[in-house]
Amino acid sequence: MKVTEYWDAVAQTYLDLFRDEFDDKPFDLAILRSFAAHFQQTRSVVDVGCGPCGALSRILSGHGLTVTGIDISSKCVALAKTEQPGLDFAVMDMAEMAFSDKAFDGLIAYYALHYTPLSDLPATVSEFARVLKPGGRLLLVAKEGDGEGWIDDPLGITDRVFWSAPSLNDLQNLLTDNGFTISDCQVRKPHAQEIDVRRIYLSAESSSARIS
Ligand SMILES: C[S@@+](CC[C@H](N)C(=O)[O-])C[C@H]1O[C@@H](n2cnc3c(N)ncnc32)[C@H](O)[C@@H]1O
Repeated sequence: MKVTEYWDAVAQTYLDLFRDEFDDKPFDLAILRSFAAHFQQTRSVVDVGCGPCGALSRILSGHGLTVTGIDISSKCVALAKTEQPGLDFAVMDMAEMAFSDKAFDGLIAYYALHYTPLSDLPATVSEFARVLKPGGRLLLVAKEGDGEGWIDDPLGITDRVFWSAPSLNDLQNLLTDNGFTISDCQVRKPHAQEIDVRRIYLSAESSSARIS
């Protein structure tokens, strides 16, 4: 099953389960506050793989950022638009974004890379660098792993799902190989209600001078 088909199929269930999940996650709220605080005035940010909830776009918008959420699943984007009226969402592949070079001051990718084969990750992160202004800020959040393969659907809706999860070291190399300078790296244990793997939070700046 292709990633678009999978997310179109599970979007409503994911929304029902996770609509307000970040409101109860102080660690994530602090990371997002810190990401937003980096910018000294209103700045444009793209939330790649925004999902059907659009919650991260909402939180960053609440911190004064101008946010565009993109997702490869048209169902996810349709639901996000309904959930977060007034915010901007578009159907787009994060590996090939319809934005000009240096379009954004910031980019967040929150649990969005797990459906991309490991061999395609360098091109995707290179695309992140392309749409960021020099010195632009990246926040990459991922579950820790050690490879890729087909797993049982965690949501129990479809049969098997392709899943990739690089190690912390691989993620760090992925960023530095694409010209990012890592400014912060945090790893937390899963919360009680989460899948039992550690969560990686990498903040980085694209090459060249700071923007603010
Ligand atoms: C686990 S959800 C995370 C949603 C949201 N970021 C969050 O943390 O709540 C992963 C999302 O990434 C999207 N996605 C996967 N591959 C993508 C791609 N190549 N381009 C854009 N979105 C993608 C999926 O459609 C899905 O909505």
